[in-house]
Amino acid sequence: MGNLKVTMTDVNGTVHAIGNLNEGESLMEIAKANGVEGIFGDCGGGCACATCHVYVDQAWWPKVGEPDDIEGAMLDMVADVQRPNSRLGCQIKLRPELDGISVTVAPTSN
Ligand code: FES
Repeated sequence: MGNLKVTMTDVNGTVHAIGNLNEGESLMEIAKANGVEGIFGDCGGGCACATCHVYVDQAWWPKVGEPDDIEGAMLDMVADVQRPNSRLGCQIKLRPELDGISVTVAPTSN
């Protein structure tokens, strides 16, 4: 059992403080395993569906950083709800520098 933690606000505004996480787990996997509403992860983490879209809290953005080109292309698919701090949860893997990261689940794209 790991010692990392995250805070996720789901699409209903419910805040989930989740602990005992391992390095290498993705935010999508963590959300699905802990019943965080609004994260579907339809493609299984292959950066091919954008159903794991989250907004990274601004304080954490410098440590998370910009999406790569492939992820950016997927985020273009949900452009109507995309924000400057949008990322795909499956592409953010926990690591010690991200211990305590806070994200909000994005609404579904129309
Ligand atoms: S789970 Fe499909 S893009 Fe993240």
